[in-house]
Amino acid sequence: MLGAEMPDSSSAEATEGDFEVSPELHADLGESLRRALRRPQPSIPPRFLYDELGSRLFEVITAIPEYYPTRTEAALLTERIDAILACRPVEGCTLIDVGAGNCEKSARLFDAIRPSHYVPVDVSADFLESALSLLRLRYPTIQMTGVGADFAAGLVLPASIPASRRLFFYPGSSIGNFSRDEAVVFLRSIRAGMGPDGTLWITVDLDKDRAVLERAYDDELGVTAAFNKNVLSHVNRLAGTDFALRDWRHLARYDAAAMRIELYLEAMRDLTVTWPGGSRRFRAGDRIHTENSHKFTTELFGELLTRAGLRTVQVFHDARRWLAFFVAAPV
Ligand code: TRP
Repeated sequence: MLGAEMPDSSSAEATEGDFEVSPELHADLGESLRRALRRPQPSIPPRFLYDELGSRLFEVITAIPEYYPTRTEAALLTERIDAILACRPVEGCTLIDVGAGNCEKSARLFDAIRPSHYVPVDVSADFLESALSLLRLRYPTIQMTGVGADFAAGLVLPASIPASRRLFFYPGSSIGNFSRDEAVVFLRSIRAGMGPDGTLWITVDLDKDRAVLERAYDDELGVTAAFNKNVLSHVNRLAGTDFALRDWRHLARYDAAAMRIELYLEAMRDLTVTWPGGSRRFRAGDRIHTENSHKFTTELFGELLTRAGLRTVQVFHDARRWLAFFVAAPV
């Protein structure tokens, strides 16, 4: 869990230039993947979307015209940065970037935030490590510690990370990839790792017109389809399955009642997937669930923060009210 410390040498493999990889990251995941594929409702956990190629495809998603969150968030942060900074003192903080990817969102804010220590965390460890090695050259005065970890069940920070003045930055509405209850558990873990002077900056994607949402997750160029289908190559490598990518199509559906985009891969013909020691038949139209992306109202997200022991200091919206950016702090 966040706040529980990861001993520096025993459980973490420290690598060159201050980069730590959580040992569970390279555990044998094949068996749990095969088990998830045998279930009545088969699924693949979203973390497997982010192998090296998946992380690169996601970078492209953030640039496609239909995927509005990244651009909207960047504009909102640029326009309102002075007001955001006025909410809570953060200069000289330890900036913890949750799901950092290529680290660009944080890097754009370095001049405004002036962190003393930067701690990007991402499941795509090799991708993060190469992004970080470039960033160190650009900002030699900021101390940087990369953490390769799957934080879905709670984030483990190395013991060397300063405990005070932590600014957690969780952009991109990735909190929406948790269920509502999981989101509260995760926010509580951030709260636990925060200390009294900590701050959370978090963006959530707001409920909106179905067509806008479905296009954002099913773009005309087919980048999101490629991103989703790429999970099957990753699973083939990890679990020894023989998924043929051409037999599957990408599906994005908005469930307005559940207020979430659901992503699936759908079999386009009757087929059998085999792996060492097993197999499964799929009929045309059968689906494998790969991701949910929950949307919010400003009020609903404020309630989740409250349930997690956090208070809303201020909320910022873009002009279309498509996103909400929250500055939150311990109660
Ligand atoms: N956090 C992003 C979101 O929910 C992740 C994401 C964007 C995503 N597009 C995707 C995940 C497509 C899976 C498939 O918006």
